[in-house]
Amino acid sequence: MTRIPHDTPGVPDPLRALGLERLRRRTSMKWRTYPEDVLPLWVAEMDVPLAEPVVRAVTDALALGDTGYPAGTAYAEALAAFAARRWDWHGVAPERTAIVPDVMLGVVEMIRLVTGPGDPVIVNPPVYPPFFQFVTHMDRRVVDAPLGAGLRLDPGLLEETFQRATADGGRAAYLLCSPHNPTGTVHTAAELATVAGLAERYGVRVVADEIHAPLVTPGVPFVPYLSVPGAERGLSLMSASKGWNLAGLKAALALAGPAAAADLARLPEEVSHGPSHVGVIAHTAALREAGDWLDALLAGLRANRRLLADLLAGHLPDVRVHPAEATFLAWLDCRALGLGDDPAGAFLERGRVALSSGLPFGTGGAGHARLNLATSPDILTEAVRRMAAALA
Ligand SMILES: Cc1ncc(COP(=O)(O)O)c(C=O)c1O
Repeated sequence: MTRIPHDTPGVPDPLRALGLERLRRRTSMKWRTYPEDVLPLWVAEMDVPLAEPVVRAVTDALALGDTGYPAGTAYAEALAAFAARRWDWHGVAPERTAIVPDVMLGVVEMIRLVTGPGDPVIVNPPVYPPFFQFVTHMDRRVVDAPLGAGLRLDPGLLEETFQRATADGGRAAYLLCSPHNPTGTVHTAAELATVAGLAERYGVRVVADEIHAPLVTPGVPFVPYLSVPGAERGLSLMSASKGWNLAGLKAALALAGPAAAADLARLPEEVSHGPSHVGVIAHTAALREAGDWLDALLAGLRANRRLLADLLAGHLPDVRVHPAEATFLAWLDCRALGLGDDPAGAFLERGRVALSSGLPFGTGGAGHARLNLATSPDILTEAVRRMAAALA
């Protein structure tokens, strides 16, 4: 196994560690979906080397042949300590958690626990496209409650939608994306308390996808959904996958509020067979030991956000970038460019740069594109140059 040099403690910006030549040797989706002449800034993988504690933990496991089945609650305990340190939240109770293969399969299983076939699942477009695909595939009905002013949750519309969804006395779930992908919005404590209040009033079960929680801009408070008063019947999915680029090392955690413990206890045993033991080891090491690496990453992402704003102002002043407080994603409003509903298609064809099309994000996605900022300033600069060239 090739060891990539690391520098903890005092970690330098991981976003500047890898050049294009090295990245092109990767075989993951980001790097293998498009031809070599396309610069990929689409799917949510990061162009970073792994944090040293993660490499060490995985390397040690491989050296030991520790590649059997996962056991115990180390992942949940690591998350509990991380949540206490980072968010001052002391509510992760390992006995009310379960390991799941990844966040999206966890979402599916949580929805399955609290709804039945044909039941409505409310989502807030524009939102992460698999929310539509996975929910539809599992025989539930997606109901839209689009984001409102400033691309924030719209409490009036949520109430109306909750009321309609439960009018027949049936069950309904609300799939909350917190922080929100693609906008990078961090929901406030007040917004989440409103959600919890409405969910209780109408008997809607909240499933919060909190995969981007570690990726909140320093100084901005992240409020875990289950920490909010009234959210006791909620369920949440958390993972080190986005924060430390571990999607290929499959593991995630499902968390139940105190009043949802009995629901989580009904999780079929086979679901917790899905996560990889080595994945659990990697995620645990990230949460436990790679906080300084995360800090270095967040500083680099903040610098990249500023760089993107400057580059767009200089080269593409008609593109509006939504101000984000979390994630490594930038939601670009390209409607003034005259490129139609799918500007990402034009950037790909004419500029050889791959962004995510806004269309699969649902209502509000037309004319938009999502750009992945988790790359080097050099690659980001070249990407915007190519986008501008596509318009020439
Ligand atoms: C909001 C959100 N949920 C889930 C996922 C996928 O997570 P996983 O690979 O753990 O299923 C992503 C990936 O980008 C995401 O942005």
